[in-house]
Amino acid sequence: MHEFDSTAFNRDAWEERWRARGAAPAPPPNPYLTAAAAELPPGAALDAGCGAGAEALHLAAAGWQVTAVDLSAEALALAGRSAVGHPAADRVEWIRADLATWDPESRFDLVTTHYAHPAMPHGEFYDRLASWVAPGGTLLIVGHLASPPGQGHRHPEAASTTAAAVVDRLDGAQWTIETAAEPVRTVAGHAAELHDVVVRAVRHR
Ligand SMILES: C[S@@+](CC[C@H](N)C(=O)[O-])C[C@H]1O[C@@H](n2cnc3c(N)ncnc32)[C@H](O)[C@@H]1O
Repeated sequence: MHEFDSTAFNRDAWEERWRARGAAPAPPPNPYLTAAAAELPPGAALDAGCGAGAEALHLAAAGWQVTAVDLSAEALALAGRSAVGHPAADRVEWIRADLATWDPESRFDLVTTHYAHPAMPHGEFYDRLASWVAPGGTLLIVGHLASPPGQGHRHPEAASTTAAAVVDRLDGAQWTIETAAEPVRTVAGHAAELHDVVVRAVRHR
């Protein structure tokens, strides 16, 4: 029997995860993203590792022009289905690309990512995302917390981080950290609590 390697984060692994998920309804948009979207004036946004597209469509509905990038064609097929008939779908450009090598043509007012653990080291991935934020723009990184209290490693090390580790990547001369938190939340349909890392920062003008 085929054994799926839950610690692999290459394209095949992501395609297999999305295929296994099937046509289950897309989860609601990430609450840290919806909070940020409610506070920021709309502009150009990048959703890095957009998955089934809930956050990209939420941003579009809030008036943002969204570039939504994902490695997985399966994920983008699900996103495409969610976009059908969505009133703001024409404000999202869906791109299948590897964020380890893809480079945008312009900078964004918001670069956001939610649990998009790629095969490359997290810190280097976050450096790339940070470099795509326009002056005055916002970087929002949402990840899984490494070693949640009392629960051991619920995610492999390569798929988790800490708020301090993310903040360490951001040069204080160039960034104001607005949020560096490790909140806990419950999600409908999930038995376990989610231990998140949320870092929100603004690039100096
Ligand atoms: C855990 S899912 C999260 C999806 C979505 N952001 C969400 O919160 O529901 C991680 C996503 O990151 C994508 N991803 C992983 N590595 C990537 C890479 N190198 N380039 C682009 N997308 C990547 C995966 O295909 C997957 O859709």
